[in-house]
Amino acid sequence: MSSVPDGAEHASERVAGSLPYLRVLECLHRDLRPDCYLEIGVRNGGSLRFAQCEAIGVDPAPHLTFPLGARTRVEVATSDAFFAAWPDSLSRPIELAFIDGMHLFEYALRDFMHIERRASRYGVVVVDDIFPNHPLQAARERVTRVWTGDVWKLRDCLERWRPDLTLTLLDTQPTGLMLITGLDPDNAVLATRYDDILRHYAGEAWQRPPPAVTRREGARVPDPALLSSVFRGLRAIRHSRSKPVEMAALLGLLPEVGR
Ligand SMILES: C[S@@+](CC[C@H](N)C(=O)[O-])C[C@H]1O[C@@H](n2cnc3c(N)ncnc32)[C@H](O)[C@@H]1O
Repeated sequence: MSSVPDGAEHASERVAGSLPYLRVLECLHRDLRPDCYLEIGVRNGGSLRFAQCEAIGVDPAPHLTFPLGARTRVEVATSDAFFAAWPDSLSRPIELAFIDGMHLFEYALRDFMHIERRASRYGVVVVDDIFPNHPLQAARERVTRVWTGDVWKLRDCLERWRPDLTLTLLDTQPTGLMLITGLDPDNAVLATRYDDILRHYAGEAWQRPPPAVTRREGARVPDPALLSSVFRGLRAIRHSRSKPVEMAALLGLLPEVGR
C-alpha cells in the first residue's frame, strides 16, 4: 500500500454508518437461519464465526483467530479456484452468502455469478464495501487503510443488467452492505455479457465513484430490531415456499436514511 497524499489522510480514511456490518451478519445467521452458508474472504473468521449451519469459508490466506462452528470448514484457495472445483463442495443450495474477498469489481461480480448459480431462489447474498466513503478508498490499487476498491460498481451493474434482482443497501459501518435477493440460478445474462460488462466499467466515466455513491444515496437504516423481524419474515417465506417476490416487499419495509 503506498501512502495517501499529504493532508488528505483524515478525509480519505473517514468511515460512516449507523451499525457495524458484523451486527447485520450476526442477525442474518440468527434470524434468517440458513441451512447452508458460503463466505468469500475469511481473514480471521470475524464474520464466519456466526455460521452454525453447514458452512464454507474461502480465502487464499486466512489468519483464523476466532473459533468456528462445528460444521464450518475453510478452503484455502482463491474464490475462482474454489468454484472451479465446486463438485466437491456444499451438499445443498446456498441460502446465505457473504462476498468479502478481493475488493475489485470483476472479482465481486464473478463471485456473485458463481454463487447465484448454486443458490436457493430464497437465498440472500450480502456484498461488503458497496459504499466507499471517499474516492481514494475506491482506488483499484490500494492507497488507504480503509479500502473498498471498486466493488461499488456491482450495484450499478446489477441494476443495469439484472433489474429482476432486488438490491437493498444498508447504511452500515464502515463501508456499507448490499443484500441481493430474488436470485435466479438459471439466469445467464451476466455470464453471457461478462466481457461487455467489463468493457463498460473500464470506461473513463467509471474511474471514480460519483458523489451519490460516497453520499450513500438510497441506503436504508439498519435498525437492529427491524432487521431482525424482516430476516425472520424472509425465513418464514423460505419455509412456506411462498413466492420469492414477497421477499422484496419485506425488505422494502426498511426505511431509507433521511426519509
Ligand atoms: C476484508 S477481509 C475478510 C474479512 C472477513 N469477511 C470479516 O468480515 O471478518 C478480505 C479477505 O479476502 C481474502 N481474499 C483476497 N483475494 C481473494 C480471492 N481472490 N478469493 C477469496 N478471498 C480472497 C484476503 O486474503 C482477506 O483475508
